[in-house]
Amino acid sequence: MRALKILFVSPEVEPFVKVGGLADMVGALPKELAKLGHDVRVVCPAYGSIKAMAEWKARVEPLGVDVGSTTRWARTWETVLPGTTVPAYFLENNDYFSRAEVYTGPWGACEDNDLRFAFFSRGALTLCEQLEWFPDVIHCHDWTTGLVPMMLNTTLRGAPLGKAATVFTIHNLEHQGYSPARVINFARMPWTDFQRDGLLFGEMVNLVKTGLYHSTKLTTVSPTYAKEIQTSAGGFGLDGVLRFRAGDLVGVLNGIDDDSWDPSRDRTLPANYSAADLTGKAVCKAKLQERFGLEVNPHLPLFGVVSRLAEQKGLDLLAEALPAIMERMKVQVVLTGCGDSRLENSFNWAAQAYRGSFGVHIGFDGKLARLIQGGSDFFVMPSRSEPCGLTQMYAMRYGTLPIVRATGGLVDTVQNYEEGRERGNGFVFHDATVPALTNSIGWACATYYDRPQELAGLQQRAMAMDHSWRQSAGQYVELYRWAVERRTGVYPT
Ligand code: ADP
Ligand code: GLC
Repeated sequence: MRALKILFVSPEVEPFVKVGGLADMVGALPKELAKLGHDVRVVCPAYGSIKAMAEWKARVEPLGVDVGSTTRWARTWETVLPGTTVPAYFLENNDYFSRAEVYTGPWGACEDNDLRFAFFSRGALTLCEQLEWFPDVIHCHDWTTGLVPMMLNTTLRGAPLGKAATVFTIHNLEHQGYSPARVINFARMPWTDFQRDGLLFGEMVNLVKTGLYHSTKLTTVSPTYAKEIQTSAGGFGLDGVLRFRAGDLVGVLNGIDDDSWDPSRDRTLPANYSAADLTGKAVCKAKLQERFGLEVNPHLPLFGVVSRLAEQKGLDLLAEALPAIMERMKVQVVLTGCGDSRLENSFNWAAQAYRGSFGVHIGFDGKLARLIQGGSDFFVMPSRSEPCGLTQMYAMRYGTLPIVRATGGLVDTVQNYEEGRERGNGFVFHDATVPALTNSIGWACATYYDRPQELAGLQQRAMAMDHSWRQSAGQYVELYRWAVERRTGVYPT
């Protein structure tokens, strides 16, 4: 079958710029697609904080991006995803992207996000025209790219680029990109389409809904989340449009980059290890205890957290449960994360109160995240909602047992421990409540002390899981082919 040309249009890409798992996905899936022989490319804004890693070259020709009543200019930087030949392009424009932040400014929300990402969406398409490279499929990610499918369906429909099919992946439906209606003129889109299709809400436009309405195919990042978002309880107000498009919506479970996340090769760990020889994991645990000023003791169960501190992640439940956990159980807990300042304060306070057994680092530190994955015995993830979740999969691969709430992708990746039955690869609880989380942590703790052999079995089963991108990449290719057929009338054989 013929190779496809696929463009990823994304606001984040690992290892250049990352806020969360979206970056991991966009950094990893293209590599797998390239291995299957497809011509994949990635385009992302060049924020001020972008890490210029591999060889960067600026394209000589400036990129003129038509927005509003004028043409604004971008400089295009070109490199490759590390270890591959997958081209990655970064669009630089001082007005929109010179600041370090991706979605929020130094004082909170970026009030020009609508203009920033409309400029990016238009720029990504103009870049294809400049390169004279016309993709079969444009794969868009979350609200920042919601205008791309509409541009292709309206003003560009008759242009060569208009043949491209679009696949829109929902990473997190909570963020919908409500934008002032000025973005319609700025993006040079027809008002009538917004009015007719219910994309305009008073003076505001919903950019995710725009993407959901106009894309050829829709995906989200786990099968369970695909079902949840079609219900009024889980649809964040968009379940109607998702049910309307149910025939085109597929839940494809995210994979992990298992070259990068491999405890036997991870160079950032103080020692490497594998399921067959876990000696190095004990070294990681000791280093982790040391790093957070905890008692260096191999016999105490150590619980780790790596997370954005946001309502979605349910870590307020952990903050509330901490006194009971720290005072009644013989455990250690370490956490790294950033976000909600009340939660940051509450965990800082706990680090004072439980000095020596609770350690916290407020910030975003990729190396520390890996040490926590490698050195902990358990990984805590009490998410209220979790479209997929990658950290529980990293934890399993690192022999660290996830303790998760049964929601979204956590349901699809973690099987609950069944005492005495050699089943499960983690601990699963159902209610988003403090007692449910505390009980689950208590159960893990009791298993650690009282049933070490069963714990070892859980760990082996967790480490044996195959969460690589290989399977899901195949599903995406099939979906891309259906999308091309829908768009052009011809199945690309
Ligand atoms: P989400 O995208 O909702 O934040 P995921 O589990 O899909 O959740 O992905 C989170 C990604 O961000 C993982 O790669 C995780 O290691 C990383 N991460 C989250 N918080 C931090 C942090 N404070 N420091 C370093 N990495 C972090
Ligand atoms: C979002 C979700 C997370 C998912 C990630 C990658 O950030 O919150 O669950 O794993 O996207 O798709």
